[in-house]
Amino acid sequence: MSGAAVLAGLGTFVPPRVVTNDELSLTLDTSDEWIRTRTGITQRHWADPGTATGDLAVEAGRRALAAAGTDTVDLVVLATTTPDHPCPATAPEVAARLGLPHVAAFDLAAVCSGFVYALATAAGAIAAGTATRVLVIGAETYSSILDPEDRTTSVIFGDGAGAVVLRAGEPDEPGALLAHDLGSDGSLKDLIIVPGGGSRQPPAGAEKPGPRPADSYFQMQGRPVFRHAVTRMAASSQAVLDRAGWSADSVGRFVGHQANVRILHAVADQLGMARDRVVVNLDRVGNTSAASIPLALAHAVTEGLVAPGDQVLLSAFGGGVTWGSTALVWPDVPVH
Ligand code: COA
Repeated sequence: MSGAAVLAGLGTFVPPRVVTNDELSLTLDTSDEWIRTRTGITQRHWADPGTATGDLAVEAGRRALAAAGTDTVDLVVLATTTPDHPCPATAPEVAARLGLPHVAAFDLAAVCSGFVYALATAAGAIAAGTATRVLVIGAETYSSILDPEDRTTSVIFGDGAGAVVLRAGEPDEPGALLAHDLGSDGSLKDLIIVPGGGSRQPPAGAEKPGPRPADSYFQMQGRPVFRHAVTRMAASSQAVLDRAGWSADSVGRFVGHQANVRILHAVADQLGMARDRVVVNLDRVGNTSAASIPLALAHAVTEGLVAPGDQVLLSAFGGGVTWGSTALVWPDVPVH
C-alpha cells in the first residue's frame, strides 16, 4: 500500500428551505437583478432555526460513507467557519452520530478554503500512515452569523454540507490527489471577519463588557476580497498545474470556490482556460464557504459535466486570508 490519498465517494446535503433573491428583497434594500448580475446567485438554502452545522455535516457524512461503501474511517476532519459551539469542536460529535466512536476527529478553520485545506491535511495523515481512511467534511450554517440588515453579506451566503471519503491507494489510480498548494496572508485578516466572541473580544461576562452585537456578525470588504481572490486562486491553481504536470488546456473542469461567477471567470481568464470549463452552481446555493467545493463537484458529476477520467482542478480562497488548490483525475465513484 502506498501513501496516496484516493477519493472513494462523495455525499452532499443542503437544508430544504430555499431563499430566493426576491424574498431577500422584501426586507433588504436590494434586488434580484443586482444580486444576479453582480454575483450570479439566484437563490440559496438556509437552515431552519435549531438546525446547526453538525446536523448538516452528519447528513453529508452519512451519504459520503454510503457512496464509498464503507462504515469505518480512522479520522474525521470537519472544515467549518460556523461550528456548533466555540468549544468543543463539532467533528467529534459528528463522528459519534455517524457511528464512528473513538476515531480521531477535529475541526479545521480556513473559512472558504477549508475544504481544500482539509483534503491536504487528510492526504498528509494518509501519507504519514496515521490514517488509512478519512472522512473529510465541509459544512456551514452561515445563516447563523449573517447580519440580517447587511445587504452586502446576507445576499451572498448559503448553508450546506459536502463530504468525501479518502482512502490510502496508489498515486496512479483515478481519484488520487496529485498535488496540493496551500497559502495564507494574515495581514489581510480584517477583510473577512467575525470580530467578537473569541479571546480578543470575549462574550459579555458578568463584570466585563462584551462585543457590540454587530461584532458577532460576519463582516466582509467585498471589493478587495474580490481582487485578492482572483489573484490568489489563479496563482495557486497554476502552482498545482505545474506540480501535476498539467497544462491549463488539459483541465476538463475547473471546480473553484463558488463565491462569485465573475471571480471564477476572471481566474479562468488568467489561467488561459476556456470559461466553459468552469463549473458554476452558486446560482442555486450561493456561497457555502467550506461546503462550496464538494457541492459544486457533486453538481458537476450529477449534471454530467465531470466524468470518470476527466482532469479536475479544485481551487479556493477565503478568510484569513487563505487559499489552496488540488488536482485529481475524476474516479468512477458514486455521488449520493
Ligand atoms: N444590493 C444592492 N446594492 C448593493 C448590494 C446589494 N445586495 N450590496 C452592495 N450594494 C451596493 C454598494 O453599496 C455600492 O453602492 P455605492 O456605489 O452607492 O457605494 C454598489 O452596490 C457597489 O458595491 P461594491 O461592493 O463595489 O460591489 P461589487 O461589484 O464589488 O460587488 C460583491 C460586491 C460582494 C458581490 C463582490 O465584491 C464580491 O463578490 N466580492 C468577493 C466576495 C467573496 O468572494 N467572498 C467570499 C470569499 S471567501
